[in-house]
Amino acid sequence: MSDQYICVLDEGTTSTRAMLFTLDGKPSGTAQADLTQFYPRDGWVEHDAAEIRDRTLACAREMVAKAGGAERIAAIGITNQRETVVAWDKQTGEPLTRAIVWQDRRTSEFCAQLKARGHEEGVREKTGLLLDPYFSATKMRWMLDNVPEVRAAAERGTLAFGTVESWLVWCLSGGRAHVSDASNASRSLLLPLEGDTWDEGLCELFGVPITALPVVVDCAGALAQTTPELFGKAIPICGMAGDQQAATIGQGCLEPGATKATYGTGAFILASTGAEVPHSDNRLLGTVLTQIDGARTYALEGSVFVAGSLIQYLRDRLGLIASAGETEALARSVTDSGGVVVVPALSGLGAPHWLPEARGSITGLSFASSKAHVVRAALEAMAHQTRDLAAAFAADGARWRGIRIDGGMAANDWMAQDIADILQLPVTRPQFVETTALGAAILAALGCGAYGTLADAVSAMTGAADRFTPEMAPSTRAMRLANWERALAKV
Ligand code: G3P
Repeated sequence: MSDQYICVLDEGTTSTRAMLFTLDGKPSGTAQADLTQFYPRDGWVEHDAAEIRDRTLACAREMVAKAGGAERIAAIGITNQRETVVAWDKQTGEPLTRAIVWQDRRTSEFCAQLKARGHEEGVREKTGLLLDPYFSATKMRWMLDNVPEVRAAAERGTLAFGTVESWLVWCLSGGRAHVSDASNASRSLLLPLEGDTWDEGLCELFGVPITALPVVVDCAGALAQTTPELFGKAIPICGMAGDQQAATIGQGCLEPGATKATYGTGAFILASTGAEVPHSDNRLLGTVLTQIDGARTYALEGSVFVAGSLIQYLRDRLGLIASAGETEALARSVTDSGGVVVVPALSGLGAPHWLPEARGSITGLSFASSKAHVVRAALEAMAHQTRDLAAAFAADGARWRGIRIDGGMAANDWMAQDIADILQLPVTRPQFVETTALGAAILAALGCGAYGTLADAVSAMTGAADRFTPEMAPSTRAMRLANWERALAKV
């Protein structure tokens, strides 16, 4: 097996990638393609599921060829943007409508109605989640109510719902497997944290036909196989996890209390709770971290909806920067943000506030404010959003002792230092920051039998990290916190 590779399909919100890893975790190739973002109305975000399939397959084919053919691929691992719902027809295998993306807020009214009818506590108790449009179930219901093709397929009994890993496995297996791993399934509002399959009462509450849902499976093992026509030979699919759970594994955060923050499109902070089912009194989420041989581990999660997407917005919509790489030099070019505060509530606020109707703001502008001040304030918002979550985790009895960061934005040294300063905690960043893909590679390596346990796979496949320690003056920090609180109170 030593000359074999793991091929990871890492399907994010803005791009899809295939990556090759050796069985000891060394990255050996990447192919990447952007995904089209559709914003048909305020608060709506959609993807073309056929584009996701086609671009992911093209990237996968490139990596299989680079490896020297399908016989050199020991297993495929899949990791994905979570909660995004795809609806397809089991007979044609084609999507019935555009996928509704996790950021989409169109079901906030439905969530508010369910809350007003007193359902939040019961839902939270069972699933660890809150009634927010973020999660999959209300998106499924919206499709049934508003897309005649989806409704008709449900009536014919040919409707399939799934999140992106489920859709990809369906496509890769030639329609033979309709599955979702427990970490992804736990983001639906339909899977109890402690139940091995969908809850009928929850399916009824959200109006989702249980027959349209995938089979819930482990995150590692012989999960499915690619159809031989795709790559010239069948390849086993042996690892699957939502991207944030995969990053938690790729960061080696297995022991209870170990915490990671991924700054991707959004920022997602997960602290492992081991075999203990998490419970939050401070509006954090409980989620499945892994399911292996039917046994689950869990995590407490704080989900921030806007992180890297803010930088993209500054680049693509406001034209303030030409590339994300410029932000570090711009932030360093001024001594502070000059009182400018950016609250990045561009698609509402997630944890711990949960305000789907909130919208972003830039406050504190004066004639002295420059582009550099605004960009610096945008980066500063990452540390502040993280700190709001630190307070919620601490109030839940899960105080962080340090935090491991990753994701595209974490490459920014200035931001990494700022997070350490605002949290007053050591921050570590692995030298290989693609922890999401690495986590999926670890699961696939475990699932194909290259390692005996998840802990063995993690220790063999993860590497060294850099460290940032707090150095900000207390008065500067106090001023930053006060400015942030003031701006946040206004959104
Ligand atoms: O829950 C949404 C999350 O999975 C999206 O991840 O990597 O696109 O920020 P990312």
